[in-house]
Amino acid sequence: MLILRAMMGTAPDAGQLMAMLLRLVNAKKTIEIGVFTGYSLLLTALTIPEDGQITAIDVNRETYEIGLPIIKKAGVDHKINFIESEALSVLDQLLKYSENEGSFDYAFVDADKDNYCNYHERLMKLLKVGGIAVYDNTLWGGTVAVPEEQVPDHFRGSSRQAILDLNRSLADDPRVQLSHVALGDGITICRRIF
Ligand SMILES: C[S@@+](CC[C@H](N)C(=O)[O-])C[C@H]1O[C@@H](n2cnc3c(N)ncnc32)[C@H](O)[C@@H]1O
Repeated sequence: MLILRAMMGTAPDAGQLMAMLLRLVNAKKTIEIGVFTGYSLLLTALTIPEDGQITAIDVNRETYEIGLPIIKKAGVDHKINFIESEALSVLDQLLKYSENEGSFDYAFVDADKDNYCNYHERLMKLLKVGGIAVYDNTLWGGTVAVPEEQVPDHFRGSSRQAILDLNRSLADDPRVQLSHVALGDGITICRRIF
Protein backbone atom coordinates (compact mmCIF):
# COMPACT_ATOMS: atom_id res chain seq x y z
CA MET A 1 0.00 0.00 0.00
CA LEU A 2 2.76 2.41 1.04
CA ILE A 3 4.84 1.39 -2.00
CA LEU A 4 1.97 2.56 -4.21
CA ARG A 5 2.23 5.96 -2.52
CA ALA A 6 6.02 6.21 -3.00
CA MET A 7 5.39 8.83 -5.70
CA MET A 8 4.32 11.18 -2.88
CA GLY A 9 7.99 11.76 -2.05
CA THR A 10 9.68 14.76 -3.60
CA ALA A 11 11.75 13.93 -6.70
CA PRO A 12 15.46 13.46 -5.88
CA ASP A 13 16.60 15.90 -8.59
CA ALA A 14 14.42 18.60 -7.01
CA GLY A 15 15.80 17.50 -3.64
CA GLN A 16 19.36 18.18 -4.77
CA LEU A 17 18.44 21.72 -5.76
CA MET A 18 16.61 22.24 -2.46
CA ALA A 19 19.72 21.16 -0.54
CA MET A 20 21.74 23.69 -2.52
CA LEU A 21 19.20 26.46 -1.77
CA LEU A 22 19.31 25.60 1.93
CA ARG A 23 23.09 26.01 1.89
CA LEU A 24 23.01 29.18 -0.23
CA VAL A 25 20.79 30.97 2.30
CA ASN A 26 22.56 29.36 5.29
CA ALA A 27 19.17 28.11 6.44
CA LYS A 28 18.95 27.39 10.14
CA LYS A 29 15.28 27.85 10.99
CA THR A 30 12.92 26.15 8.55
CA ILE A 31 9.33 24.98 8.09
CA GLU A 32 8.17 21.91 6.24
CA ILE A 33 4.49 21.55 5.34
CA GLY A 34 3.75 17.96 4.25
CA VAL A 35 6.18 15.40 5.63
CA PHE A 36 4.83 11.98 4.56
CA THR A 37 7.63 9.46 5.32
CA GLY A 38 10.23 12.22 5.50
CA TYR A 39 12.34 12.25 2.34
CA SER A 40 12.48 16.05 2.03
CA LEU A 41 12.56 16.37 5.82
CA LEU A 42 15.63 14.13 6.06
CA LEU A 43 17.42 16.03 3.31
CA THR A 44 16.69 19.33 5.09
CA ALA A 45 17.80 17.95 8.46
CA LEU A 46 21.04 16.64 6.92
CA THR A 47 21.74 19.98 5.25
CA ILE A 48 21.09 22.56 7.97
CA PRO A 49 23.65 23.03 10.77
CA GLU A 50 23.75 21.06 14.05
CA ASP A 51 21.76 23.74 15.88
CA GLY A 52 19.24 24.19 13.06
CA GLN A 53 15.53 23.61 13.63
CA ILE A 54 12.73 22.34 11.42
CA THR A 55 9.08 22.84 12.29
CA ALA A 56 7.65 19.86 10.40
CA ILE A 57 3.88 19.66 10.03
CA ASP A 58 1.69 16.84 8.78
CA VAL A 59 -1.83 15.66 9.55
CA ASN A 60 -0.50 12.09 9.65
CA ARG A 61 2.01 11.04 12.31
CA GLU A 62 1.85 7.40 11.19
CA THR A 63 3.69 8.01 7.91
CA TYR A 64 6.25 10.25 9.67
CA GLU A 65 6.96 7.40 12.08
CA ILE A 66 7.68 4.99 9.22
CA GLY A 67 10.65 7.15 8.17
CA LEU A 68 11.67 8.19 11.69
CA PRO A 69 14.09 5.27 12.33
CA ILE A 70 16.10 6.35 9.27
CA ILE A 71 16.10 9.97 10.45
CA LYS A 72 17.32 8.75 13.87
CA LYS A 73 19.96 6.54 12.29
CA ALA A 74 21.23 9.60 10.42
CA GLY A 75 21.52 11.35 13.80
CA VAL A 76 19.45 14.39 12.86
CA ASP A 77 16.16 13.85 14.74
CA HIS A 78 17.11 16.48 17.36
CA LYS A 79 16.65 19.17 14.69
CA ILE A 80 13.00 18.24 14.07
CA ASN A 81 9.91 19.46 15.88
CA PHE A 82 7.16 17.33 14.33
CA ILE A 83 3.63 18.68 14.77
CA GLU A 84 0.68 16.46 13.87
CA SER A 85 -1.89 18.96 12.68
CA GLU A 86 -3.54 20.77 9.83
CA ALA A 87 -0.74 23.10 8.72
CA LEU A 88 -2.78 26.28 8.39
CA SER A 89 -3.68 26.41 12.07
CA VAL A 90 -0.02 25.85 13.05
CA LEU A 91 1.12 28.75 10.85
CA ASP A 92 -1.60 30.97 12.35
CA GLN A 93 -0.50 29.93 15.82
CA LEU A 94 3.14 30.78 15.01
CA LEU A 95 2.03 34.21 13.81
CA LYS A 96 0.45 34.96 17.19
CA TYR A 97 3.98 35.42 18.56
CA SER A 98 5.69 38.45 17.08
CA GLU A 99 9.15 36.89 17.50
CA ASN A 100 8.26 34.37 14.78
CA GLU A 101 7.56 37.05 12.19
CA GLY A 102 10.40 37.36 9.71
CA SER A 103 12.37 34.68 11.56
CA PHE A 104 12.38 31.69 9.18
CA ASP A 105 15.07 31.20 6.55
CA TYR A 106 13.36 28.58 4.43
CA ALA A 107 10.02 26.83 3.92
CA PHE A 108 9.10 23.81 1.86
CA VAL A 109 5.44 23.30 0.97
CA ASP A 110 4.30 19.90 -0.27
CA ALA A 111 0.84 19.22 1.16
CA ASP A 112 -2.79 19.98 0.26
CA LYS A 113 -2.70 22.08 -2.89
CA ASP A 114 -6.02 23.79 -2.08
CA ASN A 115 -4.24 25.70 0.69
CA TYR A 116 -1.07 26.71 -1.19
CA CYS A 117 -2.22 30.34 -1.60
CA ASN A 118 -3.17 30.44 2.10
CA TYR A 119 0.22 29.01 3.08
CA HIS A 120 1.94 31.59 0.90
CA GLU A 121 0.24 34.50 2.67
CA ARG A 122 1.36 33.20 6.08
CA LEU A 123 4.86 32.38 4.86
CA MET A 124 5.33 35.91 3.51
CA LYS A 125 5.06 37.02 7.14
CA LEU A 126 7.04 34.18 8.73
CA LEU A 127 10.00 34.24 6.32
CA LYS A 128 12.71 36.82 6.73
CA VAL A 129 13.45 39.13 3.81
CA GLY A 130 15.87 37.07 1.71
CA GLY A 131 14.26 33.85 2.93
CA ILE A 132 13.00 31.23 0.53
CA ALA A 133 9.72 29.35 0.08
CA VAL A 134 9.68 26.34 -2.24
CA TYR A 135 6.37 24.96 -3.53
CA ASP A 136 6.24 21.44 -4.94
CA ASN A 137 4.11 20.06 -7.81
CA THR A 138 3.67 23.40 -9.55
CA LEU A 139 3.74 21.82 -13.02
CA TRP A 140 1.05 19.31 -12.01
CA GLY A 141 2.22 16.65 -14.43
CA GLY A 142 2.78 19.34 -17.08
CA THR A 143 -0.95 20.06 -17.24
CA VAL A 144 -0.60 23.68 -16.14
CA ALA A 145 0.69 24.40 -19.65
CA VAL A 146 -1.79 22.26 -21.58
CA PRO A 147 -5.01 23.60 -23.19
CA GLU A 148 -7.92 22.83 -20.86
CA GLU A 149 -9.62 20.39 -23.26
CA GLN A 150 -6.45 18.28 -23.49
CA VAL A 151 -5.98 17.77 -19.74
CA PRO A 152 -6.44 14.07 -18.88
CA ASP A 153 -9.33 13.45 -16.48
CA HIS A 154 -7.14 12.17 -13.64
CA PHE A 155 -5.26 15.49 -13.55
CA ARG A 156 -8.44 17.58 -13.33
CA GLY A 157 -9.94 18.80 -10.07
CA SER A 158 -9.51 21.31 -7.31
CA SER A 159 -5.79 20.57 -6.75
CA ARG A 160 -4.90 21.45 -10.33
CA GLN A 161 -7.05 24.57 -10.12
CA ALA A 162 -5.29 25.54 -6.90
CA ILE A 163 -1.89 25.16 -8.58
CA LEU A 164 -3.04 27.29 -11.53
CA ASP A 165 -4.26 29.94 -9.06
CA LEU A 166 -0.96 29.81 -7.16
CA ASN A 167 1.14 30.14 -10.32
CA ARG A 168 -0.92 33.13 -11.47
CA SER A 169 -0.82 34.89 -8.13
CA LEU A 170 2.92 34.29 -7.62
CA ALA A 171 3.68 35.73 -11.06
CA ASP A 172 1.96 38.96 -9.91
CA ASP A 173 3.35 39.00 -6.38
CA PRO A 174 5.75 41.94 -5.92
CA ARG A 175 6.96 40.51 -2.58
CA VAL A 176 8.89 37.69 -4.26
CA GLN A 177 11.58 36.97 -6.78
CA LEU A 178 10.41 33.87 -8.61
CA SER A 179 11.86 30.89 -10.41
CA HIS A 180 9.65 28.11 -11.75
CA VAL A 181 11.90 25.09 -12.21
CA ALA A 182 11.06 22.06 -14.36
CA LEU A 183 12.48 19.43 -12.02
CA GLY A 184 10.41 16.56 -10.68
CA ASP A 185 6.79 17.66 -10.86
CA GLY A 186 7.84 21.30 -10.95
CA ILE A 187 9.07 23.37 -8.03
CA THR A 188 8.54 27.08 -7.63
CA ILE A 189 11.19 28.97 -5.71
CA CYS A 190 10.13 32.27 -4.13
CA ARG A 191 12.66 34.57 -2.49
CA ARG A 192 11.02 37.14 -0.26
CA ILE A 193 12.34 40.51 -1.37
CA PHE A 194 10.40 42.75 1.06
C1 LIG B 1 3.25 14.68 -1.09
S1 LIG B 1 3.27 14.22 0.59
C2 LIG B 1 4.72 14.99 1.23
C3 LIG B 1 5.96 14.34 0.71
C4 LIG B 1 7.23 14.78 1.42
N1 LIG B 1 7.50 16.18 1.25
C5 LIG B 1 8.40 13.96 0.91
O1 LIG B 1 9.30 14.47 0.26
O2 LIG B 1 8.37 12.74 1.15
C6 LIG B 1 1.97 15.24 1.22
C7 LIG B 1 1.76 15.17 2.72
O3 LIG B 1 0.92 16.26 3.09
C8 LIG B 1 0.13 15.89 4.19
N2 LIG B 1 -1.01 16.80 4.27
C9 LIG B 1 -2.09 16.84 3.46
N3 LIG B 1 -2.93 17.82 3.85
C10 LIG B 1 -2.33 18.44 4.91
C11 LIG B 1 -2.69 19.54 5.74
N4 LIG B 1 -3.82 20.22 5.56
N5 LIG B 1 -1.84 19.90 6.73
C12 LIG B 1 -0.68 19.22 6.93
N6 LIG B 1 -0.31 18.15 6.19
C13 LIG B 1 -1.11 17.78 5.19
C14 LIG B 1 -0.24 14.43 3.87
O4 LIG B 1 -0.60 13.74 5.06
C15 LIG B 1 1.05 13.91 3.21
O5 LIG B 1 1.86 13.23 4.15
